[in-house]
Amino acid sequence: MDQPSGPPTEIDMTRPSAARVYDYFLGGAHNFEIDRQLAAQIASMTPNLADTMRAGRALLRRAVRVLVAEGIDQFLDIGSGIPTVGNVHEVAQAANPEARIVYVDIDPVAVAHSRSILAGNDRCAVLHADLREPERILAEATATGLIDLERPVAILLAGVVHFIPDVDDPAAILTTLREATVPGSYLLISHSTFEDQPQEMLDAQRLSARTSTEITLRSKAEVAGFFGDFTILEPGVVHMPLWRPDVPSDVDEQPARFGAFGALGRNDRTVG
Ligand SMILES: C[S@@+](CC[C@H](N)C(=O)[O-])C[C@H]1O[C@@H](n2cnc3c(N)ncnc32)[C@H](O)[C@@H]1O
Repeated sequence: MDQPSGPPTEIDMTRPSAARVYDYFLGGAHNFEIDRQLAAQIASMTPNLADTMRAGRALLRRAVRVLVAEGIDQFLDIGSGIPTVGNVHEVAQAANPEARIVYVDIDPVAVAHSRSILAGNDRCAVLHADLREPERILAEATATGLIDLERPVAILLAGVVHFIPDVDDPAAILTTLREATVPGSYLLISHSTFEDQPQEMLDAQRLSARTSTEITLRSKAEVAGFFGDFTILEPGVVHMPLWRPDVPSDVDEQPARFGAFGALGRNDRTVG
């Protein structure tokens, strides 16, 4: 298929987009020939990347199922990308049709495709915003009428915090988000790491530091620190495939090869 169904009219289809390349790697239909050409080039340079993206989405889906089972019915998904191929609203609303999701992304292409996919789903909204402005995200998410911060909420930060360099103070951003939640709320983080990685990966990372999509690899302890006073639930901060696999045989022989940790935390503060 050359043209995804119903591309948003304001989208430039003549230049590749990172969000659509990502969608392609995930098996989505919201990408064009120009994106697939770039994807092939990337895949030949970094063969592990597509697997890492899929492992990240799989972790997100497992976590959303856990959260719905815990009674969570509102999700704030920041750095959501294009919500295709079994994404948060599909998984959550399949289990609870009343579940509400606000997607947030900084990339206008991802936002436009998201709005087109979600048109007609009145329990979903898409915000074009930057994680570095958490107060604005919280205010706009509340203003949609879909997120009520007086009730438990799940904040999903899947594969996005590593785009925030230390100079932008990710710890302060996380504190703002955690502080906005009531007890019983959850925080999901998946985050790229240098721990347990072969030297080639670290060399590739040094090269990527020259591009505009630089990521900051962090340690397990740093990722754990983003949970602040939240309780990090079992199995802790672990390589993504090790986070509550559906069946033990799903776990890759080398779980560290995806180069990212995942963890889920809960606000267990006692009220008043
Ligand atoms: C690796 S993708 C992850 C997509 C999805 N959460 C998942 O796990 O499959 C990262 C997404 O974060 C977005 N992003 C990067 N920096 C951001 C920022 N400062 N604020 C909001 N979104 C950001 C990118 O545009 C991209 O769509």
